[in-house]
Amino acid sequence: MRHTAKKLFKSAFSTAVVAGALLLTSFPASAADGASSVVEKGKAAAFDRKKGNCLACHSVDDGTLPGNIAPPLIAMKARFPDKDKLRAQIWDATVVNPNTIMIPFGRNKVLSEEEIDQVVEYIYTL
Ligand code: HEC
Repeated sequence: MRHTAKKLFKSAFSTAVVAGALLLTSFPASAADGASSVVEKGKAAAFDRKKGNCLACHSVDDGTLPGNIAPPLIAMKARFPDKDKLRAQIWDATVVNPNTIMIPFGRNKVLSEEEIDQVVEYIYTL
């Protein structure tokens, strides 16, 4: 009986080790790189259906199933030479357009201040 329990524990342990190793290899090494990781986090927050969910309304980069009820997020540097204005648009779009359907992500605390900064960095690369 004791022997079987030990064996079970051993196999559960090795399964956990293999799962852990798989998890580690699925993260790209570049995630440790400072500049690109901010952009990557921003992209993740922008695409996350429970966070930015920008794709519900905008087409963005390589995002799947984009909506088309808002302008595509492209050429952001040209359209927003002032990065603060871009941030303000995401923080609270109702300031520029009181009738907008875009969620005021900062004012309503849908995204944290840090997440908004990350989304801005990502959007600015488009
Ligand atoms: C519910 C729909 C909706 C969602 C979700 C949404 N937006 Fe918007 N967004 C709009 C609409 C509609 C406009 C067009 C301007 C307006 O109505 O105010 C807009 C405008 C913008 C603009 C200005 C574009 C321009 O060229 O003037 C930016 C930048 C922007 N959105 C970024 C984002 C980001 C980043 C996200 C995700 C964090 C997001 N939006 C999520 C609907 C949405």
